Amino acid sequence: MQTQPGLRSRTGAGTGDLGGRVAVITGASGGIGAATACRLAAEGATVVLVARRGEVIEESARALRGAGRSALAVTADVTSADGLARAVDVITEQAGAPDLLVNNAGVMYPGPLHEMRLDEWRRMLDVNVLGLLQTTGAFLRPLLASARAGRQVDVVNVSSIAGTRDFSPEYAVYNASKAAVSAVSRSLRGELGPQGIRVTDIQPGLVSTGLGEQTTRTESRESIAGLFERHQALEPDELADVIAYVVSRPPHVGMPQLVVAPVTQ
Ligand SMILES: NC(=O)c1ccc[n+]([C@@H]2O[C@H](COP(=O)([O-])OP(=O)(O)OC[C@H]3O[C@@H](n4cnc5c(N)ncnc54)[C@H](OP(=O)(O)O)[C@@H]3O)[C@@H](O)[C@H]2O)c1
Repeated sequence: MQTQPGLRSRTGAGTGDLGGRVAVITGASGGIGAATACRLAAEGATVVLVARRGEVIEESARALRGAGRSALAVTADVTSADGLARAVDVITEQAGAPDLLVNNAGVMYPGPLHEMRLDEWRRMLDVNVLGLLQTTGAFLRPLLASARAGRQVDVVNVSSIAGTRDFSPEYAVYNASKAAVSAVSRSLRGELGPQGIRVTDIQPGLVSTGLGEQTTRTESRESIAGLFERHQALEPDELADVIAYVVSRPPHVGMPQLVVAPVTQ
């Protein structure tokens, strides 16, 4: 885990809607997470970028600070309980108690069941489900402390339309992992809502990111390319826009579940 000095260098112009808030975004080294970090920073939040590729998030945090935003990079793997505990300590010390957590880190490995790609199944369940649970659990104490202090507090879980709708065959385990994320979100809403934490489950459709490039299966790469030919994929910024909207509503306004997908999908 690495952090850099000079976190509090904010001088620049965001709209300020999220001024004073401390936002932790997992999976912030690319795609939706990176776009969300930029957007929340532009709105005035202090953003903490979390991912395994430390050099990538450090570079992004540096660029954000150079643009006058307040940003910190903390390298961590969401499947490591120890790593997450250390991340919570570093973040609380350097950025203050978080009041906004975007559980966005995720992986996707398509493949028909008969191929029995057990390692990839485990990886998806580990990162997408257990990783999200571990991350939320690790940050719960500071999030609850922020809520008790009267601050607005949000947990945003990035699920997928894959969890609730018919999605392509060959995605059984990914679909299951995202169904679990949405189920967890519903339960957390009941558990944390009364304690002052607003929980939102966002279910994106096709977004133009590197997610589909993780698979080594040629057939899957081709079918993903086909999806991009059939639909005008959303841009990561368009998801970031929705996340920024949700977390800037008055505290009593909840949007428990949002589907954000290309019109044709
Ligand atoms: N793109 C789509 O069409 C789409 C649609 C619906 C839902 N989603 C969901 O959106 C989320 C973001 O994905 P994306 O599309 O933006 O893909 P992406 O560009 O591949 O981003 C995935 C992010 O997750 C991080 N990550 C993966 N494993 C991690 C781990 N063990 N610990 C910490 N971070 C980890 C990666 O960072 P490192 O590799 O640096 O750790 C990366 O920053 C995922 O949950 C995905 O399931 C995407």
